[in-house]
Amino acid sequence: MTTPTPDATGTRPDEILVEDLHKSFDAHPVLRGINLRVARGELVAIVGGSGSGKTVLLQHLIAHLQPDSGRVLVADHETAGSPLRDLATLSESELDRIRRHWAVVFQRNALLSGTVLENLSLWLREIHALTDEQIRPRARRVLEQVGLEPERTLALDRSALSGGMAKRVAIARALILEPVLIFYDEPTSGLDPHFASTVHELIAETHARAAALPDGSTAPLTSLIITHDTALLRRLRPRVVMLRDGAVGFDGSYEAFESSRDPQILPYFEQMPMLNRRVVA
Ligand SMILES: Nc1ncnc2c1ncn2[C@@H]1O[C@H](COP(=O)(O)OP(=O)(O)O)[C@@H](O)[C@H]1O
Ligand SMILES: [Mg+2]
Repeated sequence: MTTPTPDATGTRPDEILVEDLHKSFDAHPVLRGINLRVARGELVAIVGGSGSGKTVLLQHLIAHLQPDSGRVLVADHETAGSPLRDLATLSESELDRIRRHWAVVFQRNALLSGTVLENLSLWLREIHALTDEQIRPRARRVLEQVGLEPERTLALDRSALSGGMAKRVAIARALILEPVLIFYDEPTSGLDPHFASTVHELIAETHARAAALPDGSTAPLTSLIITHDTALLRRLRPRVVMLRDGAVGFDGSYEAFESSRDPQILPYFEQMPMLNRRVVA
């Protein structure tokens, strides 16, 4: 166990700490020494070209993949003081306890076959052992939060959902867990610009909410968003972490990212015509 240390401002403890993370698949190196520190309450966007390892990094943060070398530590909100724990040292049952405070909105939503209510209920029933009577009011509340009409939506089958509705349900399914740490993998990819902007608002509103901890205290939500949606970056102005050549190629404020003259970042912006970037001679 590692005691959380305050971040550079001296006020916020660490939520995630990645140290020299390496990962290869069949001798093809994908992550080649990732170092990343995320403080509690931060809003962080992970950007980078297609295939740069963003989803692979996320899979390490949620312990779906194990590092070849290096460490991934995440705050344990089941223990007083929320100490950082090295995920590789945890048993399955310890991981399950820590995971109670995480939620993931997967790139393709990963909704299960069945109704919206069944999708919203699954983890609450299995992990938190809640009954249907306890789950229904929470399900209605999160559907309202994502702008869906609860009574009409609860009974709908997954197959009846449009792409936009499925994304909302996927976010509702994350919110119903009342997470302390929320991960989004390309939350707006494939959505039309109008609907994408409602997802930007949802992410911003969600991030502004405090999360409840087991001891009755509250913690600011930490949000980590994998994205290449420039409109999202402009709206949320997150800290930006860019993956490049398997490492962190940029880590700084949105403003610093947007105004960077780094020749490696400029072409990235050229693929982002929505961004009203000043012309660089
Ligand atoms: N389970 C896996 N087995 C083998 N290769 C993988 C696996 N997952 C990802 N990769 C490879 O790792 C690289 C990074 O993938 P990914 O993290 O999904 O990229 P992105 O940045 O687009 O999310 C790609 O070359 C991909 O093919
Ligand atoms: Mg990906």
